[in-house]
Amino acid sequence: MKKQFRSILNEKGRKELPNILLAAAECAPLSKTGGLADVVGTLPKALKKLGFDARVITPYHRCIKNKYADRVEHMFDFYVNLGWRTQYCGIERLMLDDVCIYLVDSEFYFGDKIYRGGQAEGEQYAFFTRAVLDAIPNLGFTPDIVHCNDWHTAMLPMLAKTQYGGAMQSSLRWLLTIHNIAYQGKFGFEYVQDLLGVEDKYYTPEFMELNGCASFLKAGCVFADRINTVSPTYANEIKTAYFGEGLEGILSARSNELSGIINGIDTKVFNPYTDPALPARYHKGRLSGKKLCKLALQRDFGLEQREDAPIFAMVTRMTEQKGFDLVERMLDELMQYNDMQFFVLGSGDKDYEDFMRNAESRYKGRLCAFIGYNEELSHRVYAGADFLLMPSRFEPCGLSQMIAMRYGTLPIVRETGGLKDSVKPYNRYTGEGTGFSFADFNAHEMKDAVLLALECYHKPEVMKSLIRQAMEADFSFDRSSEEYAMLYLWML
Ligand code: ADP
Ligand code: GLC
Repeated sequence: MKKQFRSILNEKGRKELPNILLAAAECAPLSKTGGLADVVGTLPKALKKLGFDARVITPYHRCIKNKYADRVEHMFDFYVNLGWRTQYCGIERLMLDDVCIYLVDSEFYFGDKIYRGGQAEGEQYAFFTRAVLDAIPNLGFTPDIVHCNDWHTAMLPMLAKTQYGGAMQSSLRWLLTIHNIAYQGKFGFEYVQDLLGVEDKYYTPEFMELNGCASFLKAGCVFADRINTVSPTYANEIKTAYFGEGLEGILSARSNELSGIINGIDTKVFNPYTDPALPARYHKGRLSGKKLCKLALQRDFGLEQREDAPIFAMVTRMTEQKGFDLVERMLDELMQYNDMQFFVLGSGDKDYEDFMRNAESRYKGRLCAFIGYNEELSHRVYAGADFLLMPSRFEPCGLSQMIAMRYGTLPIVRETGGLKDSVKPYNRYTGEGTGFSFADFNAHEMKDAVLLALECYHKPEVMKSLIRQAMEADFSFDRSSEEYAMLYLWML
């Protein structure tokens, strides 16, 4: 693959690989609310292995300050104009795993919440966008490609191309990765105009207008040089009205410039053989440690200590996307199977949280609902569970199912987006598979998939080979980073 890079570079008459600057709202392990952070944290490390200089620019959130302040070096500061507002902005630098991370500092915008919600979030990320554009010429690093991620950074190409001159327009290339099209950053146009000085002429359906709002993500889809998303299946899905959230038109029109690259996971961080969060370690040739992880999970969270009772787990944001409506509909029927245990780690919509809390009180000893975000516990759940349920309504990529497989926990997924691209469903005739799946967003189909998993659980030979197959699947970021590398080169 590296050779291929070089030949494409030669074709383009270049000697060096392009410099990449990734811009994103979150970056693991510094700040994280979901899979976006994992990707932004892992991709530059994987690109580095291929010889790229890939750096990250992200807000200096309070959670980062609390942990890393003494390792951060102040580079420079300036004032950012946001309509009538003028706000201080510092650019700090942090080296992490040999990757350079620029942190945009503003006590005013990056306090306790990574996402403030509503209009305030629009202002928060309008500030970030303007700060990034104003900082780029002074970083001492000249990116060839700015790789934007989701709506929070999707306005970068539009502002660069319509409000800035010089290299911003002539030589810089802009890539937009859509991690989730359901979040678009939609605001009243006057508000956006007030914050970012966007000209009236851009408030049309050809540019950023969508259903009476200005959509940051739409602006990105129009102005980025290339668009990609996080799995091949999702890249096709978002060209349809069902998944496209109003952007299917522009995405279909730009179909030739839209690609899907499936994410990977950080296989060093997620490794059951070395994971410091686990009470016992294991690998695919020796699974006794996994049993100990299960018993410890049951013991520590009030579940009956039964090795023969399968644990079905979810580690997730509790939102409509993640299929909680199906879980609500089916939970009681599934809990009729007496040996079944359920573990939910997640937070999000209050209704789903309440439903799960209530279920915990009804199924004492068999169901645990841990409402909250807890990184360490998530590792213990991936290791201690037998199955991971992910019945998503839509799923751009999904990392939880990959992490689960790495820990020998079989995913049960709906065949959508990256779930379809990463989980090979069990075939009872050939024995192939790395998990279970169902096609339609339907509670009874989900139930059938769960019951098939339960049936397999009681056939040790079948389970053993499925677990081995799941643990052998390759979800390292190396595969994905090579595809990103090719994409970057095509963009030059
Ligand atoms: P999404 O980004 O849509 O939330 P992904 O499956 O891509 O879904 O990524 C979710 C990431 O966040 C995974 O690394 C998962 O382990 C983690 N995660 C989700 N909810 C929690 C939680 N409550 N506690 C700890 N980690 C969580
Ligand atoms: C989004 C998607 C998820 C994907 C993640 C990282 O949060 O919901 O499916 O895995 O981004 O790309």
